[in-house]
Amino acid sequence: MDKSMTVGVIGAGTMGIGIAQVAAQAGHNVVLYDAREDVVKKAVADLLGTLDKLAAKGKISGEEAAATHGRIKPVNNLKALSGCGLVMEAIVEDLAIKKKVFADLEKVTSAGTILATNTSSLSITAIAAACSDPSRIIGLHFFNPAPILPLVEVVPGLATDPKLVAQSSQLMASWKKVPVICKDTPGFIVNRVARPFYGEALRIHEEGIADIPAIDRAMKEIGGFKMGPFELMDLIGNDINFAVTESVFRAFFFDPRYKPSITQQRMVEAGWLGRKSGRGYYRYDQGQEQGQEQDHARGQEIVERILVMLINEAAEALNLGIASRDDIDLAMTKGVSYPKGLLKWADEKGIAECLTKLEALEEQYSEDRYRPSPLLRRMAREGTTFY
Ligand SMILES: NC(=O)c1ccc[n+]([C@@H]2O[C@H](COP(=O)([O-])OP(=O)(O)OC[C@H]3O[C@@H](n4cnc5c(N)ncnc54)[C@H](O)[C@@H]3O)[C@@H](O)[C@H]2O)c1
Repeated sequence: MDKSMTVGVIGAGTMGIGIAQVAAQAGHNVVLYDAREDVVKKAVADLLGTLDKLAAKGKISGEEAAATHGRIKPVNNLKALSGCGLVMEAIVEDLAIKKKVFADLEKVTSAGTILATNTSSLSITAIAAACSDPSRIIGLHFFNPAPILPLVEVVPGLATDPKLVAQSSQLMASWKKVPVICKDTPGFIVNRVARPFYGEALRIHEEGIADIPAIDRAMKEIGGFKMGPFELMDLIGNDINFAVTESVFRAFFFDPRYKPSITQQRMVEAGWLGRKSGRGYYRYDQGQEQGQEQDHARGQEIVERILVMLINEAAEALNLGIASRDDIDLAMTKGVSYPKGLLKWADEKGIAECLTKLEALEEQYSEDRYRPSPLLRRMAREGTTFY
């Protein structure tokens, strides 16, 4: 696959226009289609402004900005994607609508065209089942904002041609992205492994152990995370974050490890969605100071509890063969900017210590939510490490 390959993008919303920009910056001609013609036109016009700003800041040259924009062609029908070597779908997250689009796409593209979906939560296998040849469908999951975040989760469905995995990974690397390969399972790597970052923080708050700013401060000042869990939920939007948690919980047949929080549900019901609505866990309409974490021992406890839950999730993902050790760690550092890979972090803390902490939580709560991964138990017994 070289730069002469035309890339099709369906859906010119947040993700679609970002992916179109990435492909065009990598030198491909891009054909961009959206069910709404006004949306494509506006997205392409807005992108010119984004590229001009990048040029003004010296991040790209003026020529590159103009050339990138010039490579993106808005179109008003699906047939215009017929000559593409790869089509990236980034439309609404609805299985029935995606299936219809893929069935239609299969008819207008040639047999060698790779058909990729950017879905965050749907099964690649289920989308591919809409096609008579599901072997050319693959998940290529970009993160928001696509031009900035380097991670792409490469997700083959059950019927995907294994050759596509290597081919797509190479293509993503040529777009200066970091591809990680993962099994077609709910939440892929990042949206699965990151659940306790939000869920356990919410639990700590619900139990009255610490208030919201104290939890955020501890995670940043002691844990080294760029943002605290509540700040991040406010940035993502409580509606989106709650929907992802609910969808992962349902997709795992109600495994208590992924149980959503009633506190967050109430935030959504109140319309306190976060930054975008002016109010979430914090007020954005009147400013709110976070101050410094005062109680270091309590802060340490908070970080430990959330961190071992994250490590447990990463270990269990490895145990179930969702992805390799390196890809799990890469996914969390490149996709959600964690300060360290979780498995590397587990080694540094000591596997036995992580297990002891999880067992203490399990005993304290008598909840399946805190069950340690069998992999951690085995490693602690055998005295092995991840690296
Ligand atoms: N927003 C994120 O943070 C994020 C991150 C990673 C993945 N995703 C996934 O990317 C996909 C798109 O998300 P988004 O946030 O860009 O959505 P969006 O709502 O911003 O854009 C979706 C676009 O698809 C268009 N569309 C809807 N149905 C269509 C159809 N049948 N044919 C052509 N166009 C159609 C809409 O007009 C809209 O412009 C979803 O599958 C989502 O799960 C989103």
